[in-house]
Amino acid sequence: MSKKATLQYDGQSLELDTIVGTENETGIDITQLRAKTGMITLDPGYGNTGSCTSDITFINGEKGILRYRGYAIEELAEKSSFMETAFLVLYGHLPAKEELETFEAGIRDEAYLHYGMKSHFEGFPDNAPPMAVLSSMLNVLSCYNTELLTTATKGPAFELPASRIISKVRAIAAWAYRTSQGKPFMAPRTDLSYSGNFLHMMFSQQFNLYEPLPEVERALDLFLILHADHEQNCSTSTVRMVGSSHASLFSAVSAGVGALWGPLHGGANCEVIKMLERIHEEGISPRAFVEKAKDKNSPEKLMGFGHRVYKSFDPRAKILKGQVDNVLKALNISDPLLDIAYELEEMARSEDYFIERNLYPNVDFYSGILLRAIGIPVDMFTVLFAIGRMPGWIANWREMHVQSLRISRPRQIYTGEILRAYTPMDKR
Ligand code: SDX
Repeated sequence: MSKKATLQYDGQSLELDTIVGTENETGIDITQLRAKTGMITLDPGYGNTGSCTSDITFINGEKGILRYRGYAIEELAEKSSFMETAFLVLYGHLPAKEELETFEAGIRDEAYLHYGMKSHFEGFPDNAPPMAVLSSMLNVLSCYNTELLTTATKGPAFELPASRIISKVRAIAAWAYRTSQGKPFMAPRTDLSYSGNFLHMMFSQQFNLYEPLPEVERALDLFLILHADHEQNCSTSTVRMVGSSHASLFSAVSAGVGALWGPLHGGANCEVIKMLERIHEEGISPRAFVEKAKDKNSPEKLMGFGHRVYKSFDPRAKILKGQVDNVLKALNISDPLLDIAYELEEMARSEDYFIERNLYPNVDFYSGILLRAIGIPVDMFTVLFAIGRMPGWIANWREMHVQSLRISRPRQIYTGEILRAYTPMDKR
């Protein structure tokens, strides 16, 4: 029997059920609120509103905990691969050897894009933003998979579109990059890992195949593991919203790309590097920049800092910070932006402004330096974030349909003009 919450207002009293999750989070069930009281709740930005129950990812923002299907991100980062983590996020358990081999074979066999998609890339201008290309081409992909535009949640009718999107998103991303560079497309190989094949399609030349260092391939795979899911963030909620109208998985993830693109969300990884480059090139002192970021009258933010949920260190930022050093050492390169990042972090974490607001480095603060170290161009950073988040978006889309959730349709409180008569032109 669930504990009750009591709502009292204007002489009315309403008992509301509560729901307690497996990690003892408690939600007040307001599904009957409007029917019984005529009232709604108001929560712009949904900071206090749960849109669903979910078995996929657990975050404890106060303790800096992140788990996919119960497994700690620290363990998955150390011991898993992106393919194994994608299977876990999608299907809820760590795959047995044969399950993983079958899943990886499906991804490997689906790496090519239909030749007809090539001409769409040629229609984009060289300076087309890669996230715009990615979002568009995911919908173009649906044109070559019309038999898969369903809301199936199991069997080949789900597994095939899921694998096709997770696999083909690499070629779409790599070909978007090569189009912008005026380079011919590079076909995927069948003998490379998921991450290795992406790097091959990005950087190989006709007679000079790109062979990534093991550290580079592992760093990219780790980056993708860390981005695989993150419960009901802006872009995942967008995927659920679009999917709730029974639009296809392709159009839902295409919409997710659009939401992720924003500089407050996935676009922050580009903004962090641009911020660090500006500080470096203009010789701005980190101290002066931190002062600007604190100043309400300044447009500057300390990009890569702060989070709606984490009120302590984002565990992904901790892992990435450790990895960046390893990759730079393995590649025998040093990056002045890393020293600036360290300085900014050290300053921010001793400043009352940041401490009072629980502003810590988030996943984007160090991820850009890692991607830059392995040679990914800045305007492709958020595309890599989208590639990593595909399993999470797909798993959330699927969970929503397994739960047979109704179409998402929030209400509002109207604050506009009350009824008024139409005024003829000569009376205005
Ligand atoms: C991601 O939701 C997810 O899970 C997202 C994500 C995922 O994996 O899907 O984790 C990925 O999007 C990470 C976040 C990347 N974005 C950034 O790094 C952009 C910079 N950060 C901020 O814009 C902000 O912190 C947000 C958008 C991340 C969170 O915004 P909130 O929760 O709406 O918080 P807020 O803007 O209301 O800030 C609270 C206070 C404000 O000051 P006061 O009005 O209280 O005086 O903190 C200040 C803000 O001005 N603040 C910052 C700041 N972030 C918040 N001040 C300076 N620099 C910052 N970065």
